[in-house]
Amino acid sequence: MQTVLDVAAMQSRAYRHKRQGESIALVPTMGALHEAHLKLVRRARSEASVVIVSIFVNPTQFGPKEDLDRYPRTLEADLRKLEALDVDYVFIPSAKQMYPEGFQTEVSLKYLPKHLCGLSRPTHFAGVATVVLKLFNICMPDTAVFGLKDYQQYRIIQQMIADLNLPIRIVGVPTVREEDGLAESSRNTYLSPEERKKAVAIAQALQRIEDAIVKHGKRDAGELIELGIRVIEDAGGRVDYVAVADPDTLDDLQQVQKRTLLAAAAFFGNTRLIDNRMVDLSETVEEKDAENR
Ligand code: PAF
Repeated sequence: MQTVLDVAAMQSRAYRHKRQGESIALVPTMGALHEAHLKLVRRARSEASVVIVSIFVNPTQFGPKEDLDRYPRTLEADLRKLEALDVDYVFIPSAKQMYPEGFQTEVSLKYLPKHLCGLSRPTHFAGVATVVLKLFNICMPDTAVFGLKDYQQYRIIQQMIADLNLPIRIVGVPTVREEDGLAESSRNTYLSPEERKKAVAIAQALQRIEDAIVKHGKRDAGELIELGIRVIEDAGGRVDYVAVADPDTLDDLQQVQKRTLLAAAAFFGNTRLIDNRMVDLSETVEEKDAENR
């Protein structure tokens, strides 16, 4: 495994592999690697002959009052985990390398960031899309692997790839959960033991909504959202949003449709966590496949 700190060095190595006809899979991360990241890396390993994992805590995706300074940084442990997974390159650029003086270009998306997390984090997704496009140009992947826990991020990158004709296949990997159902997240490390116990309510809220849809035939989004809010608030969480949305446009729905995204964000103490579930009411496997195509 080679550690590369320099943008030009990473780009020339990637270029050399491409010229030799090799395929590259990229897993962009901000480090503080946990089981969910490792699942992305294993998936990348099965997709390409060369695997690059980037570790970069991207300042432009954090708002002024967000947790950039205290975001967990565990580089040595991260490198040990990646070594064990047979990763070829770990790309660890500095902020100066990624955003040299005079940097001024930004990817902007019209509609997808106007929903869900974008409402309370208005500059976040422009920062994400811009850094991911830079990582794509530096690492030249054929395949890029992202976790579906950050579903809105996944959709935005998928849209950017389509809109800008990037020759990259995006792979979304299902959310990894802890034993009680809490989605794995680097930010879980901020939770006190008491908050950690309560935080599972975000997963439970979405599960309760899914049950209301699938087992009890509920279809009214307003009623389902109220149910989700109640579950989170009863556990002591502060809701940012609970949404019943179209998985492609992320528009709010009035009524549940065949494929429906259930998503939530909530604070436990000062820690903001997100989660989502996809409900698919298609009746047959063929129908499900067609919907997912
Ligand atoms: O999901 C993340 O960790 C980040 O948003 C990403 C994709 C690495 C961009 O900084």
